[in-house]
Amino acid sequence: MVQQPLADVTLQEGTLRFLEDSPKRLLIGGEWVDAADGSTFDTVNPANGQVLAQVAAAGEADVNRAVAAARRAFDTGAWPKMSGSERGNLLWKIADLIEKYTTELAELETLDNGKPLRVSSKVDVPQAIRHFRYYAGWASKIEGSTIPVSFPNQLVYTVREPVGVVGLIIPWNFPLLMSAWKLAPALACGNTCILKPAEQTPLTALRLGEILIEAGVPAGVVNIVTGYGIPTGAAITSHPGVDKVAFTGSTEVGRKIMQAAASSNLKRVSLELGGKSPNVIFADADVPRAIKGATWAVFSNTGQECTAGSRLFVERSVYDQVVEGLAAEAQKIRVGPGFGSAHLGPLVSQEQLDRVTGYIASGRSGGAQIVTGGERLGGDLADGYFLPPTVFTHENDQLQLVQEEIFGPVVAVAAFDDWDELMARANSTRYGLSAGVWTRDVGRAHRFAQGVKAGTVWINEYGLIDAAAPFGGYKESGFGREMGKDALELYTQVKTVWVNLG
Ligand code: NAI
Ligand code: MG
Repeated sequence: MVQQPLADVTLQEGTLRFLEDSPKRLLIGGEWVDAADGSTFDTVNPANGQVLAQVAAAGEADVNRAVAAARRAFDTGAWPKMSGSERGNLLWKIADLIEKYTTELAELETLDNGKPLRVSSKVDVPQAIRHFRYYAGWASKIEGSTIPVSFPNQLVYTVREPVGVVGLIIPWNFPLLMSAWKLAPALACGNTCILKPAEQTPLTALRLGEILIEAGVPAGVVNIVTGYGIPTGAAITSHPGVDKVAFTGSTEVGRKIMQAAASSNLKRVSLELGGKSPNVIFADADVPRAIKGATWAVFSNTGQECTAGSRLFVERSVYDQVVEGLAAEAQKIRVGPGFGSAHLGPLVSQEQLDRVTGYIASGRSGGAQIVTGGERLGGDLADGYFLPPTVFTHENDQLQLVQEEIFGPVVAVAAFDDWDELMARANSTRYGLSAGVWTRDVGRAHRFAQGVKAGTVWINEYGLIDAAAPFGGYKESGFGREMGKDALELYTQVKTVWVNLG
């Protein structure tokens, strides 16, 4: 049964129309179809635990159909042969339509993921638009090169060709944005796609599917299969007809994807995985600004960000000031349903709430001190998965709380005394996605950027991303760079052509 999302919320007509049409279907070969065996799953509003919609649960047979459609569109269709500028025009049109439907998409995102409407409408949707526009520009600028070689009478040149059928498996923390983040470069390069949204948040990907049809994306070029990691995601990663998988999610699943790729057809893999990012405040920083920055570095999106600055290291002489300031900032943050005035929404699911409260319990029992937060919110919020911003202090980097990705509004703060100690500790997890540093000493800031093992470093700010700036991990945070020009390498392969001019 589909219940009213939130009694006191007025939704756009388009949003209601989309929600009423249930079950949501799979997009395969340009048609909306039910799962072959008729299975569905529920997607839930995390602000109140109520079912928003039933969604088709794709099984292996459905993934096979989607791969066949994508293969046809790639192997015999017009798409990969279309000129880059034509593909660019289409990407631009998709961006225009996303813009036209901003409020609807933002409402669906807030219902399905829980994040505040002002965030989904001012961050997620505009960033998704920006990704399509940025790669619309690249579509006509994918070039090879001419190579001087040591033999006489030879012309050697390279061309960049699409990889083929690409599987795009995405998480629930930025559902529409992650769809755009992967689809835009994949399409710009001429690939055909199978998009699998996360089971927690399938709605905006499905609405995007309607938009792709409206924009005129040819049948089979983008197929959307909703469902769980197993069987849906796993059927994509083990399928011999899929040439590449681009994944964002947990390191654990990233490992499984590499295994599946290795034991099927050696498909290409790019992985954007978890993080446990160090954020460092030196005593010479603009401390009040650093405190505000460190607050949002970790609590933004209710901490459900791979880049979350979840390990905060503070130079000892300003440690007490920072801990006190951070707790005060954390307490000012309003947590509540995304359609109200909240700064932060709920966690995405009961499962995520359980995972995060498990880490909080392990932090307590391991001897870390809670400065603020730590208890699930009740009262009016009892039906949703709400946790307040939580600040721990500790002296033991080996705690689970400090080593493992929590993906919730929890920060572990520790004092440091000197440079060598700091750098060793900053680099002492298996992750290496991002890092932050706050200091007025420009040399120190850059020495930190050089020494830290992370794919992105922010200096006197935290968490900015842009379609133009490459993004990805060191160490077990994954490999491959998304965004910017670098993403073109993920979605193309190089062909070298030798010509005898004699
Ligand atoms: P997950 O890694 O299980 O899910 C991400 C995506 O992978 C979803 O679409 C899921 O259906 C799919 N998937 C799951 N198992 C699969 C398999 N065997 N083969 C192919 N696809 C599969 O993440 P989950 O369980 O939702 O969250 C667990 C933890 O992962 C979080 O607490 C967080 O630490 C981390 N995570 C990191 C993200 C990031 O942005 N780097 C995003 C989401 C989660
Ligand atoms: Mg999972």
